[in-house]
Amino acid sequence: MKSNVKNTTRRVVGLSVATAVLALVLAAWALGALLNRTGDASATLSQAVTPALIQRGAYLARAGDCVACHTAHGGPAFAGGLGIQSPIGTIYSTNITPDTATGIGTWTYGAFERAVRRGVGHDGSALYPAMPFPSYAKVSTADTEALYAYFMNGVAPVHQANRANGIAWPLSIRWPLAYWRSLFAPTPAPGDGLASAASDARIARGAYLVQGLGHCGSCHTPRALTMQEKGLDDATPTYLSGTELNGWAVPALRGGKHWSQDDLVDYLAGGRNSTASVAGEMKDVVANSTSHLSVEDLHAIAAYLQLLPAQTEPRDRPQPERSAATTRQLTAATDLSLGQRVYLDNCGACHFVTGQGAPRVFPRLDGASIVNAQNPAALIQVILAGAQTPSTAQSPSVLPMPSFAARINDGDLAALTTFLRSGWSNSAPAVSADQVRAVREQLGAARRP
Ligand code: HEC
Ligand code: HEC
Ligand code: HEC
Repeated sequence: MKSNVKNTTRRVVGLSVATAVLALVLAAWALGALLNRTGDASATLSQAVTPALIQRGAYLARAGDCVACHTAHGGPAFAGGLGIQSPIGTIYSTNITPDTATGIGTWTYGAFERAVRRGVGHDGSALYPAMPFPSYAKVSTADTEALYAYFMNGVAPVHQANRANGIAWPLSIRWPLAYWRSLFAPTPAPGDGLASAASDARIARGAYLVQGLGHCGSCHTPRALTMQEKGLDDATPTYLSGTELNGWAVPALRGGKHWSQDDLVDYLAGGRNSTASVAGEMKDVVANSTSHLSVEDLHAIAAYLQLLPAQTEPRDRPQPERSAATTRQLTAATDLSLGQRVYLDNCGACHFVTGQGAPRVFPRLDGASIVNAQNPAALIQVILAGAQTPSTAQSPSVLPMPSFAARINDGDLAALTTFLRSGWSNSAPAVSADQVRAVREQLGAARRP
C-alpha cells in the first residue's frame, strides 16, 4: 500500500518533469523558428540581369571564395559535396549550381540572400556557421544581387544531390543553431550591409573585402569555446590576431608593418613576394580567390591590413646583429651544432647561410611567421611533406620545396627545427623528436586512402 503511494507519487512527479521539459523544448524550438524569420524569402532582384551584372557576380564569387567549400575534390565547380570537419561531425557543402532539381535553380533571390547573409537555409532552418555567413552579413545588397545573378545565369547547372551531414542525433537538430546565430552573427543592416566607417575610400573598400566576402577572419581570428570568431571587425583587438587551423599556425595579419604594401599585394596575387612563399590552406585561398582580384582591390586590402595595430609587440623586429652572428657561424662551418649541420647539408643551397633565401624564388627563413609560430607543426610538416607555390597569372611557374621525410630522421629534424627557431633573429621554443613523430604520423594517416 505504502509503496503503491510512493510509486504513484514518483510517476506523477516524473510525468510533470517530462511535461515541463517537453514544454521547454517546444518553447525553445518555437523561439528558434521565430529567430529564423529574418529577411524576406520572397524578395526578388531590384535590377535587370545584364551580362555586366553577371560578370561582377563572378568576380565577387572569387572574392568570397565560394568555390573553395562548394566544390568536392575533383568534382564539378559549385556542385557541393565537400566534407568540412567540425567538432560534432562532418558537414557537407551544398550544390549551389542552378540545377532545378538538386541545386538552387528554383530559388528566389530572397532565399539566396537569407542563406548567404543571414545563415538561414532555403527550407527555413538555421545553417551551420561552416558557411561563413557571420562575415557575409557585411556584403552589400547590390553585391548580393550580383552574386545571385551570377549563380543563376553564369554557372553551369550540375545535377548532383546533396549529401546528408555526418552528424549524429541529437546534435544534428538545427534549431539551437538559430540561438547561436542570433548571439554571434550580425544581421545585415537594411539596405546596404554593414559598411565600414572609414572615411578614406580605399581603406573602406579594403575593410569591406577583408571583413565581408574575403572572410579572412574565419581562419586568421582566434575562436572562443563556443566557436564564434573573437571579433568580426577591427573594433576588437583580437580580430585577425592569428590562431591555429588543424595544427597549422595562421599568422596575425595585424601590425603588418613587417611587410610593405607591395609585398602583401604580391603575396595575395602570386603566392610569393620578396621574403615569403605561401603554403598550407592559404595556398588555396591565393589560387582560388585573391589571385583573381584586381590590383586596386589587393592594394585596398593591403592598405587596410597595414592600418591594424599589432596586438602584441612585433616579435620579428629585425635584429641584424643576431642574424649576422648565425650567418658567420654557418659560413665558417666550424663548431656546428647538429641542427646547423643538418641545415647546411639539406637546406643551405636554396635558403642560404643568411636564411634570407632569394626574392620571389626561395622564401626567407629569418623572421618568417611559420618558423616562429608557437606551435612548430606547420614548420615540421613543410619540411617533411614539401610544398609548392600555386600557379597564378602573376607567377605561373610552380616552385617546389622538396620533401625530406625519407632523408631526415625525427631526432635530426628536431635538432634542425630547434636551430631554425633560435638562429638568425628567430625566437621560438625548441622542438622535440616526439613533436616531429606526431606530425609524421598525422601525415601518414592523412595519406592513407
Ligand atoms: C568556408 C566554407 C564555405 C564558403 C567559403 C562558402 N560556403 Fe556556402 N555553405 C557552406 C556549407 C558547409 C554549407 C551548408 C551549411 C549547412 O548545411 O548548414 C553552405 C550553404 C550554402 C547555401 C545554403 C544552401 C541551402 O541548402 O540552404 C548557399 C546558398 C551558399 N552556401 C552559398 C554560398 C556562396 C554564394 C558563397 C560565396 C559567396 C559561399 N556559399 C561560400 C560552406 C561555405
Ligand atoms: C582557409 C583559411 C584561410 C583564409 C580564409 C585566409 N587565410 Fe591567410 N593564411 C592562412 C594560413 C594557414 C596561412 C599561413 C601560410 C603559411 O604558413 O605559409 C596564411 C597566411 C597569410 C598571410 C601571410 C602572413 C605572414 O606573416 O606570413 C597573409 C598576408 C594572409 N594570409 C592574408 C589573408 C587575407 C587577406 C585573407 C582574406 C582575403 C586570408 N588570408 C584568408 C589561412 C587562411
Ligand atoms: C631545392 C630548393 C629547396 C631546398 C633544398 C629547401 N627548400 Fe625550403 N623552400 C623552397 C621553396 C621553393 C619554397 C616555397 C614553397 C612554398 O611555399 O610552397 C620553400 C619553402 C620553405 C618553407 C616555408 C616558408 C613559408 O613562409 O611558408 C620552409 C619553412 C622551408 N622551406 C624550410 C626548408 C628547410 C628547413 C630545408 C632543409 C631541410 C629546405 N627548406 C630545403 C626551396 C627549397
